[in-house]
Amino acid sequence: MKDLGLHIYDVVQNSIRAEASEIGISINEDTISNMYSIQIQDNGKGIEPKKLNHVTDAFYTTRKTRKVGLGLPLLKQNAELSNGQFEIKSTLNKGTWLTVTFELDHLDRPYAGDLVTTFGLLITTNPEININYSHKTTYGEFHLSTKNITDALGNITINQPGVITMIKELIAYNLEKIKAETTKIYSDSSNVI
Ligand SMILES: Nc1ncnc2c1ncn2[C@@H]1O[C@H](COP(=O)(O)OP(=O)(O)OP(=O)(O)O)[C@@H](O)[C@H]1O
Ligand SMILES: [Mg+2]
Repeated sequence: MKDLGLHIYDVVQNSIRAEASEIGISINEDTISNMYSIQIQDNGKGIEPKKLNHVTDAFYTTRKTRKVGLGLPLLKQNAELSNGQFEIKSTLNKGTWLTVTFELDHLDRPYAGDLVTTFGLLITTNPEININYSHKTTYGEFHLSTKNITDALGNITINQPGVITMIKELIAYNLEKIKAETTKIYSDSSNVI
């Protein structure tokens, strides 16, 4: 089963293919309402209303490289297996908004996975896109955006080798501080991708 980090990576690839220049990802681990929610929004080209009704049908795709699309149907199925919900809204030429929820302590909820690597890679491999990541738990919240990092780096470019290590360490440190669920916390700083 795909973990949540891999699902997020997949959904963000849809936004990138839709030529988004802004992608927002907000995660909320809410122990009070017992809910893990993920919201992803983009300003890409959007989805026509008649297509939107079919994006969660298994095998619907506008890909030319293969005939099946599984990203959204699998995410919806995983949400429903853990008593959660999947909702997608889109406006043509404006963007797409997706929210997916899971019952936090449900046995069938996918693990968060390695969010440090997911966000480290998404940010460093798409330097032209402003990725805005927020993560909230009962202990606090953490925000990071490509724009903040680019501003802090000055003349150094975001896709230089040492930068991913720095970003991953920053994410790992902050996720640990807010006690976010991750199955793997980045610890080996020699492990540069
Ligand atoms: N953010 C988005 N903006 C515009 N179109 C989207 C977006 N997300 C999904 N779509 C449309 O919905 C279709 C189905 O998406 P889905 O992720 O399920 O499959 P896929 O991306 O085609 O293939 P896979 O995810 O298996 O690689 C896409 O082919 C695309 O046409
Ligand atoms: Mg996809």
